[in-house]
Amino acid sequence: MARPADIGDLLYEGKAKRIHATSREGVVAIEFKDAATAFNARRRAELQGKGRLNCLIAAHLFEALEQAGIPTHYLGLLNDNWMAARAVEIIPIEVVIRNRAAGSICKQLPIAPATLIEPPLLDLYYKDDALDDPLLSDARLTMLGIVSEVQRHAIECLARRVNDRLRQTFARARLDLVDFKIELGLTPQGQLVVADEISPDSCRLWKLDPDSDANDRILDKDRFRRNLGNVIKAYGEVLKRVQELGLHPTPYR
Ligand code: TMP
Ligand code: ASP
Repeated sequence: MARPADIGDLLYEGKAKRIHATSREGVVAIEFKDAATAFNARRRAELQGKGRLNCLIAAHLFEALEQAGIPTHYLGLLNDNWMAARAVEIIPIEVVIRNRAAGSICKQLPIAPATLIEPPLLDLYYKDDALDDPLLSDARLTMLGIVSEVQRHAIECLARRVNDRLRQTFARARLDLVDFKIELGLTPQGQLVVADEISPDSCRLWKLDPDSDANDRILDKDRFRRNLGNVIKAYGEVLKRVQELGLHPTPYR
């Protein structure tokens, strides 16, 4: 996809996105890449079309959150691969909410895959690739002093509101939100907002269609992690389903 007008310097490059400055103060442009990584980039591939799909899916989901009054960094779409967002300082904590058991929790605890977790489990990880994003305990978070107790409470409340809204939104798209990871940021005014992306790279999504087999139901990055194939087809199905919800991502002007 062509680079939109008014894109400035590259500010940061991550595994799946590039963040660029724009000519507007406090606004960045996020470019979604086709690169796919798993296991902290020990597995890598180029999946043509993934950047576009994740950008459009994330735009729909940010619209759903904004409509529910949940603050996000999202400002609108620049084109199919690029999103405008408020410049924020990312808090180096990955917040994971688990509605069902899958992935790492099934390797670390005696819990069977697909077990419903009620109330949903909230896990915090320290965001640092060099350390492999370790799970944080309360004591370790307090010791690190990255966030105050008040901020931590605000982060957890916001993440649970995100879970409630995303679960409802995906259910309308006949998808089960198994778990997801979000990152939060602080605006220059100190407002806590949902940042980064919400997409099949950062969520586990299972089709609610009753007669499909367990692996066919998987529409997220587990298809890549577990070599199940048809990654782009699955992401395309997620986009198709969220497009049917009438959320209409706004073009950014
Ligand atoms: P986990 O089962 O590996 O702990 O992952 C939980 C959720 O978080 C799952 O939806 C995938 C997402 N996730 C990321 O978005 N980035 C990551 O680096 C990891 C490890 C998980
Ligand atoms: N996001 C991590 C990576 O890019 C891990 C994962 O999603 O499995 O390697």
